[in-house]
Amino acid sequence: MEVMTANSLRDRKDPGAPVSHMLHRTISSQPEIVVSGDGLTLTLADGRQIIDASGGAAVACVGHGNRRVADAIAAQVQKLAYAHTGLFTTEPAEALANLLLHDEPGGLSHAFFVSSGSEAVESALKLARQYFVEKGEPRRTRFIARHQSYHGNTLGALALGGHLARRAPYEPILGTAFSHVSPCFAYHYQASGESDQQYVERLARELDDEFRRLGPDTVIAFCAEPVVGATSGCVAAVPGYFKAVREVCDRYGALLILDEIMCGTGRTGTMHAWEQEGVTPDIETLGKGLGGGYQAIAGMLISRRVVDALASGSGAFMHGHTYQAHPVACAAALEIQRIIQEEDLLSNVRAMGRLLDEQLRERFGAHPHIGDIRGRGLFMALELVEDRDRKQPFDPRLALHERVKYRALECGLGVYPSGGTIDGKVGDHVLIAPPYIVGPDDIEMIVDRLALAIDTALEEETAKSSLRSESPAPR
Ligand SMILES: Cc1ncc(COP(=O)(O)O)c(C=O)c1O
Repeated sequence: MEVMTANSLRDRKDPGAPVSHMLHRTISSQPEIVVSGDGLTLTLADGRQIIDASGGAAVACVGHGNRRVADAIAAQVQKLAYAHTGLFTTEPAEALANLLLHDEPGGLSHAFFVSSGSEAVESALKLARQYFVEKGEPRRTRFIARHQSYHGNTLGALALGGHLARRAPYEPILGTAFSHVSPCFAYHYQASGESDQQYVERLARELDDEFRRLGPDTVIAFCAEPVVGATSGCVAAVPGYFKAVREVCDRYGALLILDEIMCGTGRTGTMHAWEQEGVTPDIETLGKGLGGGYQAIAGMLISRRVVDALASGSGAFMHGHTYQAHPVACAAALEIQRIIQEEDLLSNVRAMGRLLDEQLRERFGAHPHIGDIRGRGLFMALELVEDRDRKQPFDPRLALHERVKYRALECGLGVYPSGGTIDGKVGDHVLIAPPYIVGPDDIEMIVDRLALAIDTALEEETAKSSLRSESPAPR
């Protein structure tokens, strides 16, 4: 039997292609090489142009190739590329924290910047634990999160997250301080005839039960994404849910950590997604839209009461990274946040979000294989279903979401589809999250190309399954 290696697969696909020494996400196929970006457009090495309709993974917010950001980065590199935070702070880091927190939104008063969303989540877990140690409550050692959540891929963040498939290979080495309750995912899990209020009460009761099962004085925090991103596809909670879970946390003196790494920094139409929920977190994590892809930067925003506990205790946060608050990354993020404010891009997110929602509903509202159209602002998703009435997903072995991704690329469209939408194993969705500078013509083009990609992918599947049913049974 032939043993498949990365290179034998390459040789078979394109014998002339150069060997890649990169370990890509998929080893059996190499991704396209993208060489430049401008606004919404990405240009590939062979000259093809792609509309970036998902900002990568909801990252690009001011579009690609922004001159102001490029200049700010160049200026900062020339002035000061790096200084260690053990001894120094820098102008861009201070200015970025000030821009985000000068008015202490929701009581958040301090920022901590790192290089990735996963690092931000790790930082939040450690800060929350340290908060209770400083307060003289060292018995608090547990975190509660939700099934189907994603909080990052480092071991702590992965253990916090509730996505079965992503956790599976690592389960035996994941920390045991984490447990999970049901997500607020109305399309699949709100019972028929159950009102929003009843659904919220049921979920709040489940969370309360989990606190009591663990021992309420052992819980550090409950953590959730205000709008669930990559794993389920832009799932916002039903009204009242976040107020109810905040109350449960308050009842037992635990913290509420809201992970806005994907849905925050304006993506859903407000700077913080929690603004639309009527609650404030004790710690908020943010990431993708902070640096818009120009630099690797993420962070956490922390409430004054948490910082005060450390200030009046040990006087230090027992955690750090070499590249935390990197001055070049902070300079890029600062310029991006200034552009968002000065150009009032959040008004555009809201207006174009409405248009995107309308056009998706017009185009896919009666589509036999689109079960749900959901999201907020420029953070929208379509869920693909085999049977709309029964909300029955496609066979996960088809990996329909992957097929849609590649058909979209052929149509000149970059989108962010995923599988395991419903429970980490089954379900397919396509996430659409264009940069905040998107215009009405772009929206129309995105919806047109997406419709073509989805229909082509579905036709191929139908053709394949009819071939399967026509072919004689194997003897
Ligand atoms: C909600 C959420 N938290 C955390 C992360 C992890 O961020 P990163 O990939 O930058 O480590 C992600 C990434 O998709 C995310 O969507």
